[in-house]
Amino acid sequence: MDDITPADRELYEQAVEVAAGAYAPYSRFHVGAAARARDGGVFLGVNVENAAYPLGVCAEKSALTAAVTAGCRPGDLEAIAITASPCGGCRQWLVEFGVQRVVYARAGGEIVVATPAELLPDTFEL
Ligand code: THU
Repeated sequence: MDDITPADRELYEQAVEVAAGAYAPYSRFHVGAAARARDGGVFLGVNVENAAYPLGVCAEKSALTAAVTAGCRPGDLEAIAITASPCGGCRQWLVEFGVQRVVYARAGGEIVVATPAELLPDTFEL
């Protein structure tokens, strides 16, 4: 794990701000994510829940989906900040997109930075 940089903190603040707009009426657990591309573009996401619980979408998947919609592809994202510790499935997404730095809040609130490989070792890849 690396040290948190001022740029990491700035991205994390954007994730905190966007988390307020999450749609989480079932868990009431609001999550925000902000992904920064190499060209400086930032893509935001929140968790979006559904009455059929498994259909909900995580905040980091929302942010990555927005980035892809704008034309980003694997290797284009230098960092993502998430206001929660990424779930297992989202860790697989972070690997897929080769996000360089994952800034996230641990369960106790500590903000740390890690690589997707650190978060998901021995990853499945085609
Ligand atoms: N959640 C995320 O948005 N990202 C994660 O990586 C962890 C979980 C959301 C899903 C659900 O809406 C809520 O947090 C409670 O699990």
